Amino acid sequence: MNSGLPAVVIDNGTGYTKMGYAGNDDPSFIIPSTIATQSSKGKQTAASMKKGVEDLDFFIGDEAVANSKTYDITNPIRHGQIQNWTHMEQYWEQCIFKYLRCEPEDHYFLLTEPPLNAPENREFTAEIMFETFNVPGLYIAVQAVLALAATWTLKNADRTLTGTVIDSGDGVTHVIPVAEGYVIGSSIKHIPIAGRDITGFVQQIMREREPNIPPAESLEIAKRVKEQYSYVCPDLVKEFAKYDAEPDKWIKPIQAADAVTNRPFSYDVGYERFLGPEIFFNPEIISSDFLTPLPKVVDDTIQSCPIDCRRGLYKNIVLSGGSTMFKDFGRRLQRDIKRSVDFRIKRSEELSGGKIKAVPLEVNVVSHNRQRYAVWFGGSMLASTPDFYNLCHTKAKYDEIGPSICRHNPVFSTA
Ligand SMILES: Nc1ncnc2c1ncn2[C@@H]1O[C@H](COP(=O)(O)OP(=O)(O)OP(=O)(O)O)[C@@H](O)[C@H]1O
Ligand SMILES: [Mg+2]
Repeated sequence: MNSGLPAVVIDNGTGYTKMGYAGNDDPSFIIPSTIATQSSKGKQTAASMKKGVEDLDFFIGDEAVANSKTYDITNPIRHGQIQNWTHMEQYWEQCIFKYLRCEPEDHYFLLTEPPLNAPENREFTAEIMFETFNVPGLYIAVQAVLALAATWTLKNADRTLTGTVIDSGDGVTHVIPVAEGYVIGSSIKHIPIAGRDITGFVQQIMREREPNIPPAESLEIAKRVKEQYSYVCPDLVKEFAKYDAEPDKWIKPIQAADAVTNRPFSYDVGYERFLGPEIFFNPEIISSDFLTPLPKVVDDTIQSCPIDCRRGLYKNIVLSGGSTMFKDFGRRLQRDIKRSVDFRIKRSEELSGGKIKAVPLEVNVVSHNRQRYAVWFGGSMLASTPDFYNLCHTKAKYDEIGPSICRHNPVFSTA
């Protein structure tokens, strides 16, 4: 039975877990998807020596990271998929009881999955949710579909579940076409460039130029520079020229102190401000294997979809995930995708000797201020509609039929 309490919405990403209650604008917690369990090699802690306590002796999130010296640190999720179910169950346990502090028996749950997740994974998830936590209802939503729903609250937005989602998190970037709530699985493309690669690249540039930065802090500093100062420029050559003409205007001097010795040090934040995210647009800067710019991947993805969906896919290109947060990321993408599309149209008109006049194609990249946790926000919105309670699998049905009911999750209507 629906208790009237809001549904719990949890989006477990490779790098970060976003959790909170349906109907809210923001997740209550965003914590690393990391678990620290008793170290098999290291010393046992006093608490863990007591019999039976081993299972309780673990940490998740920032606390797990803080205990990395004495515990084994792992991420139960890799490339978006759950790899270690024991750890995942423990992770959810603390999400529910320690962070959200709710009784799972009293709330419906919405969880998320990456595109092309194996149906067995949904069954495992259902078993844990219904049997360990006794939840009354469960829906497992595809992350890309939630990212599309996240744009519905924008001004002039269509309530549509058709569009192309660019989801870029920490480990991987996916381009996912969705038509009326269904992912076009055969056309999904992966790009091996995401947040972690940009941080690494920024770290490398700064290490070469700024010897003052203590090595132990260089990764954290690179991540901060990336998240706080980086942006996407319209033209690389002109951007370099801009910095060289007026360095005082663009280069930011930063004062800091060594975390251990407290000794002050300083460094400049320069070209890496725009070079970091540039690797999406010119991957050859860091890679010799993967060379296709992101706008071209998006165009290729849409071109590989059935012809009658393409117009809707170009019209609604939606950004999701932390690594799409760079200022002007959407603007550059839109410009470059439009260039490819216009070029192709012009060429086919020329080839036809002017006989074919193509209808112009609208290319629209949608940015919004909840991109960082768009998947969670879309989940929060859908799980607060009455439709959600009709679509959920219930505990009663689970008890009657078994985990196989969760292999399939019905699609939300947009009416
Ligand atoms: N303002 C920002 N600008 C640029 N990058 C950012 C910003 N905020 C967060 N990030 C980056 O976003 C990444 C995390 O994104 P997100 O939470 O979407 O990933 P995830 O869902 O855990 O991973 P995945 O989608 O790969 O499973 C990190 O690399 C982080 O540094
Ligand atoms: Mg994610």
